[in-house]
Amino acid sequence: MDHADHVRLLREGVTRGGTWADLGAGTGAFTLALAELVGPSGEIVAVDRDRGALHELERALRPGGATVRTLGADFTKPIAVNSLDGVVMANSLHFVRDKSPVLALVHTMLKPSGRLLLVEYDTDNGNPYVPHPLSFETWRALADASGFTGTRKLATVPSRFLGRIYSAESLRA
Ligand SMILES: C[S@@+](CC[C@H](N)C(=O)[O-])C[C@H]1O[C@@H](n2cnc3c(N)ncnc32)[C@H](O)[C@@H]1O
Repeated sequence: MDHADHVRLLREGVTRGGTWADLGAGTGAFTLALAELVGPSGEIVAVDRDRGALHELERALRPGGATVRTLGADFTKPIAVNSLDGVVMANSLHFVRDKSPVLALVHTMLKPSGRLLLVEYDTDNGNPYVPHPLSFETWRALADASGFTGTRKLATVPSRFLGRIYSAESLRA
């Protein structure tokens, strides 16, 4: 996947402006795409427990996009980030076995009009590198059970690893 794929996976779920969080941002592949799509009037908090990855993300930032700040934190615990227009979780929810408590936290971070964009491998079969993935159909059922509505697939990208990656939008209200 390259930058164009990252942008394409998120594009339909992002409107310009507003405040977003990227949970499990890593070195920022999707943060950079999100920054481009949200534009210079927007703000993004890039969250990761790996501070080294966040430093790399900071070095990769380019002018012209949303303002990005980094936050070293564990997204399975409450984070002081709220009233968000959107949350991106790209290839990070699959590290969590028990996803419902994390989704409850994400729900509280969002404005009533807010949305969660999930990017994941389209499989329910994990491996040591991707321990707890979830297919789109599994995600839709879990999103519904977690109080999100209107879950829809946005885009897919073929992947040599585990076949395919999808993006999906879920609304808070
Ligand atoms: C596979 S990387 C994905 C990075 C980026 N989102 C992407 O798709 O390129 C997963 C990232 O999630 C982070 N992560 C996993 N569990 C986390 C947690 N509980 N709290 C914060 N970060 C977490 C890891 O440190 C890692 O940087």
